[in-house]
Order: sequence, then structure tokens, then C-alpha cells
Amino acid sequence: MSEWIDGQGRKIDYLRLSVTDRCDFRCVYCMSENMRFLPRQQVLTLEEIERVARLFVERGVKKLRLTGGEPLVRPGIVHLCERLATLPGLRELCMTSNGSQLFRLAGDLKAAGLSRLNISLDTLDAQRFAAITRTGRLEQVLRGIDAAQQAGFEHIKLNCVVMKGRNADEVPALVDYAIAHGLDISFIEEMPLGQVGREREESFCSSDEVRALIAERHELLDSAEHSGGPARYVRLAQHPGTRIGFISPHSHNFCSTCNRLRLTAEGRLLLCLGHENSLDLRGLLRRHPLHDEPILEALRGALQRKPARHEFTVGDVQVLRFMNLSGG
Ligand code: 5AD
Ligand code: SF4
Repeated sequence: MSEWIDGQGRKIDYLRLSVTDRCDFRCVYCMSENMRFLPRQQVLTLEEIERVARLFVERGVKKLRLTGGEPLVRPGIVHLCERLATLPGLRELCMTSNGSQLFRLAGDLKAAGLSRLNISLDTLDAQRFAAITRTGRLEQVLRGIDAAQQAGFEHIKLNCVVMKGRNADEVPALVDYAIAHGLDISFIEEMPLGQVGREREESFCSSDEVRALIAERHELLDSAEHSGGPARYVRLAQHPGTRIGFISPHSHNFCSTCNRLRLTAEGRLLLCLGHENSLDLRGLLRRHPLHDEPILEALRGALQRKPARHEFTVGDVQVLRFMNLSGG
């Protein structure tokens, strides 16, 4: 078999790998204040992660994304990037990071063969940044963004979770920052993953509202660009180099073109972010350290069960997993 096709006929060519559930931040939309993290032996080893990636890339996955938690707090992450970047057939090795460690690791990551970076940035105000991330420092992340650009990363994308009463009023300023620095930016609707100890309906800000805020100042041109995910893109008439994305997990319309799977830090293969159903790959990997066939067999079976669509509704926590286990 040279391609992964799921039970709905969708071609799976994108795998997201969470390399750790740990993070140096405690963002209000992602974690509760007192998180307990997985014991180390329950987390996949770097070798196990590499093995899963290889099985997928050998059969047609073209794009890998490393996520967390925060992937850069995992010891050995640069070495893992080096290993993954050499997998034959892989087109892109991407990472989603909170940016806190980029000031020291950006150059090494570039040299290791990482091709693209998404960096979270919800606000440009230091106090608000501290309030949203609970433990993060804005200045360190801004330095990290600079370091990534200095290291030669192109098409860096900022990710911003928009919340009323916290940062929604900064949407225009964040767009200006992206324009000034030659970055793309995506605005994300908050998803109801895990009980994080606050009501989400109150702060929920729809992509339509965000778009209207930007349209007050910029002429928007719809773009046909697609990522096979829940994002719609626009470009700015006056700044064609800046791409703006709107990620609306609450709209169902992207499920029919879903091309992705996710591996959690503990080795569960999630077939859909909005469903609990998953495959325990860690167990299989450890039971069959030398033989891939039983694992491939289980993967084929799981792909037949990939759900046709998710069923999120605002404020309703249907999926009890926290975001840091699956990495967005
Ligand atoms: N809703 C939407 N996006 C989230 N992220 C984390 N938790 C949520 C959530 N509940 C996104 C943020 C973060 C990235 C890893 O995932 O952009 O930076
Ligand atoms: Fe860490 Fe990202 Fe979760 Fe924030 S959203 S706590 S940076 S994993």
C-alpha cells in the first residue's frame, strides 16, 4: 500500500505529532492552573515517534507537524528534527511553538532541517500576555520571533486565539505587527477542549467578527488557498505579502477534505480532534518492537473508522482531553 486512504475516501497526507504534553506556559484556553503531566514512561520515546513518522511517510504522508504542549521543552527535539527531516518523500517538517525557546534554538532548528514554524502570539501587551499565558513573558517570545527570522525561516505564521475581553480589541494591532514583520497570521476560534476552569461562551469571538474588525481598516481579498484544515484565508489588497487565516473549528464544512491524523504525546492516534475514538499505538509499538506489519494492520483498520465529521458546539465540553495532549 503506498497511500493512506480513509473510510470516506479521503487521502491522509498530513500527520501531527505531539512530542510532549508539557509546556512552560499555562494558557487559559489550553490548561487549567494546576496541571498534572504524564509520567515519562507513558510518553512516547523519540525513537517511537520517529518510527511512527517513518511508517506514515513511507506510505504517502508528505507533511509532518511537531506540536506539544510546547515541542521545544522536549529534550532531544533538535535531534528528532534532524532525523525526521531526512525521511525520504517528506516535503515539509513543520512545528507549532509558543516561541519561548526560539531565542536559543531557532538556528539549530533551521540547521536540523525544520522547514516551517507557527508561533503563538495572542497579544502585544506584556501584562495581557502574562495574564493569558499565566507564566509567559512577551518580550522573550518577540525575541524568539526575531531569532527565527534571523535564522532564515520563511512564511512564519502567527497563531492568535481570539477572546472577547482579553485580546479581541487587539486584532488590528496584531495584523499591523504581522504586516510590519512580513509574517502571516491566523485568528483562531477557541475550542471547547478540556475543562479549563472558566466559561468559554462569554469570551467566544467568531471568525466573522474578527474578519469584520480587520475589514474596518483593510480591503480584504478572498483567497482560494487551502490547507485541508479548518482555515479560510484572505489577503490584504494593500499588503499582498501578508496572508490572514481564520480558523473556525465550529464550522463543519472542512471535514469532507480533512487530510490529517494526530498522534498524542502518549501515543494515541486520534482520528478526529472532535471525537474520543483513537488507536493505542504506544501499546502496539512496545509489543512489536521489530515488526511493522501488526502496526500497519491496525493503522489500516483505524483509518476505516476515521469519523466523517466532528460535532463541536460552543461551551459544551464533549472531548475531555486537554489541548496540550493533542497539540491543536
Ligand atoms: N482553542 C483554540 N486553540 C487552542 N490552542 C490551544 N488551546 C486551544 C483552544 N482551546 C491553540 C493555540 C496554541 C496552539 C498550540 O493551539 O493557538 O498556541
Ligand atoms: Fe502551552 Fe500552547 Fe497550551 Fe499555551 S496553548 S499552554 S503555549 S501548549
